[in-house]
Amino acid sequence: MTTLTTMTMTTTTMIKRTILAVCLLTLATSTVAALSSAGAASGVPLSKVLVTGAAGRTGQLVFGALLRDARFETKALVRSAASGKKLRKSFDPSVGLDQIVVCDVASMAGDDTPAKGLEGYQAMVICTSAVPALSKWSLFKAVLKVPVNVIRRKKAFDFRSLSFVWKKGQYPEMVDYQGTIAQIELAKKVGMQHVVVVGSMGGTDPTNFLNTIGKKKDGTGNGDILLWKRKAERYLVESGLDYTIVSPTKPTNQTIFLEMETRTLAHSPCLAHAR
Ligand SMILES: NC(=O)c1ccc[n+]([C@@H]2O[C@H](COP(=O)([O-])OP(=O)(O)OC[C@H]3O[C@@H](n4cnc5c(N)ncnc54)[C@H](OP(=O)(O)O)[C@@H]3O)[C@@H](O)[C@H]2O)c1
Repeated sequence: MTTLTTMTMTTTTMIKRTILAVCLLTLATSTVAALSSAGAASGVPLSKVLVTGAAGRTGQLVFGALLRDARFETKALVRSAASGKKLRKSFDPSVGLDQIVVCDVASMAGDDTPAKGLEGYQAMVICTSAVPALSKWSLFKAVLKVPVNVIRRKKAFDFRSLSFVWKKGQYPEMVDYQGTIAQIELAKKVGMQHVVVVGSMGGTDPTNFLNTIGKKKDGTGNGDILLWKRKAERYLVESGLDYTIVSPTKPTNQTIFLEMETRTLAHSPCLAHAR
């Protein structure tokens, strides 16, 4: 019986992982297709592209897809040297150090350094996202409760009692709002033409589970990741730049599909250069 349960759980986990992998791949492929069609629509092929959050799950896939596509020249923006190392490990030896920009977007507002080396870059794909970490305190409490739960014949380890926290200064407001605005401003400073944001569903739903991460039971604390992402998307819409917002959504039949909102302004190659 136990073996059967374990096998069922393993199969379910594998199916879930496969679905996630397929969704992420679709996300990456759609992002590259969006860049390609945006370039075609404006008459200026978008060949030099910066991918931010490039060491993350989505970022790596987008960066990889662009690396493999001969139409694009690409650079990666990562939070730290350690993230850069992780990225190089995945793509080594194809990624040169000159292709990696190290920058913490949560504290880059007003910093001109990241713009250096991005001259001539035409597009940016924003894949940054605040990264939650498991609360060690909640893990400690869950472990302490194991013997009591076993005696009471309850589930030994209660996964639902675990909670997640944000690193200091890396809250959703700092990364997904202020950090995204700083990236949009960087795009403007460099003279980029098009910004793609890989977003998420739940941007208008305060009760979405992801919005509750980092919040206390009384509702205070630093959460609302999807709401902050949505607010940053509005900033992009009003920025005057061409943009694509990629949002995976879940309609009633529970299959995930991608919704894309693109605005490409008609402009001549000359004007695009001057932007
Ligand atoms: N994964 C999915 O299933 C999925 C599905 C649909 C939509 N999306 C959307 O795709 C986007 C990316 O999600 P993801 O799952 O790929 O996230 P992820 O794996 O957690 O990656 C986030 C990346 O952002 C970087 N980052 C965080 N804070 C930063 C900062 N202050 N400065 C610079 N970089 C920073 C992280 O750097 P480090 O590597 O240093 O931590 C990490 O590489 C999100 O908007 C998400 O909503 C994801």
